[in-house]
Amino acid sequence: MPSRIDDLLDRRHGRVAGRLHTVDDARRLARRRVPRPVFDYIDGAAGSESTLEANRTALEAVEFLPRMGVSRGFPGPDLATTVLGQPVSMPLLLSPVGFTRMMHPSGDVAGARAAGAAGTVFTLSSMSGHTMEEVSAAAAEGGVPPWFQLYSLGGRQGAEQLVDRAGRAGFRVLVVTLDTQVPGNRERDLRYGLSPPLQLDRRTVTAMAPLAAVRPWWLVEAARDRFRLELVNAASLGMSATDALVRWLGAPPTWEDFGWIREHWTGPVVAKGVLTAEDARRALDSGADAVCVSNHGGRQLDGVPATIRALVEVVDAVGDRSEVLVDGGFRRGADVVKALAVGARAAMIGRPWSFGLAAAAQPGVEKVLAVLRADIDRTLRLLGVGSVADLDRSHVRLPAPW
Ligand SMILES: Cc1cc2nc3c(=O)[nH]c(=O)nc-3n(C[C@H](O)[C@H](O)[C@H](O)COP(=O)(O)O)c2cc1C
Repeated sequence: MPSRIDDLLDRRHGRVAGRLHTVDDARRLARRRVPRPVFDYIDGAAGSESTLEANRTALEAVEFLPRMGVSRGFPGPDLATTVLGQPVSMPLLLSPVGFTRMMHPSGDVAGARAAGAAGTVFTLSSMSGHTMEEVSAAAAEGGVPPWFQLYSLGGRQGAEQLVDRAGRAGFRVLVVTLDTQVPGNRERDLRYGLSPPLQLDRRTVTAMAPLAAVRPWWLVEAARDRFRLELVNAASLGMSATDALVRWLGAPPTWEDFGWIREHWTGPVVAKGVLTAEDARRALDSGADAVCVSNHGGRQLDGVPATIRALVEVVDAVGDRSEVLVDGGFRRGADVVKALAVGARAAMIGRPWSFGLAAAAQPGVEKVLAVLRADIDRTLRLLGVGSVADLDRSHVRLPAPW
């Protein structure tokens, strides 16, 4: 039975979501609700954050080449598509994000429900504070099976157990993240002692307490959740978070791993973190079914190319062999349309849905998805395109020299 405080909090999330009209609004509202270390964990990136910025500037440098006189008015363009055989209501999926429970206690469950309500895919991070089964059940409410992102927590043996469990729990696609050989140098996080495994030790609490005190709504909800930050997948392997992480980082993923992964996973496999034509070919040759062009939102190796630029190279190399996904810097529906015109099957978002969650729980994520959907729809109409399937390179001009 929801209590009065639950009602109050729900109403508040609804009101805040109502004030959110852009992804930038979500970011601003998130910054107001969560303590600074939590905001910086979402917003920050590695090194001087040059790749974070490059993702945006490169997307903005792509120009549209619209067709006039061909718009059909209502009903509007068809946004529905399929990704790896999975029907989705729009070409926009949710990227895996770790430690979402710190943003709001409903974390990945809220993300999965919001994605399901929008008819699209939720990808669960290995670094979740919720069990695979909880998240799968939440996604199932919307009828779209979720995807699972693999970090080899607990080393190869742990990873095999996680993969088997994800299959049993109803996850449909396995996303293997390749770019996290070690955690990136996220300088903002250093200030608060926030490094994996995240835990409320003395240093974190000392750094967070005064900052949390001025964020009462976050504090009330986090306290009701008993400040749970545990790494559920480590616990499920019977390991401490530190042990699971040490074993994972002791054996970062290699192309050979796709061999055993294929033996344990019958569904499609996506290689996430590919940035070059050569690696895209290598991923498919090693057994992946698709690649996700990603620089981890600039959170891993700073100084790598913007993903929209890498996308051009990767689509040219393997676009005829596999679907290509992309994430990094997508903040507007128009950005998504640019990626589709270049040749991506769908774009994915990490920070935008995290900001929505941090600002206003599930209603915040739902609103972010609604805002992006409306902008994809509007952009297609203004381009004179009747469906996402009709987009191609003739609809964009890439900067030269790129
Ligand atoms: C707070 C945060 C946590 C993340 N955690 C993970 C993770 O656990 N696994 C993973 O593969 N990617 C992770 N990512 C990267 C995202 O999946 C995605 O590649 C990136 O956020 C895309 O860039 P965008 O934030 O500009 O949309 C994380 C990103 C953020 C912002």
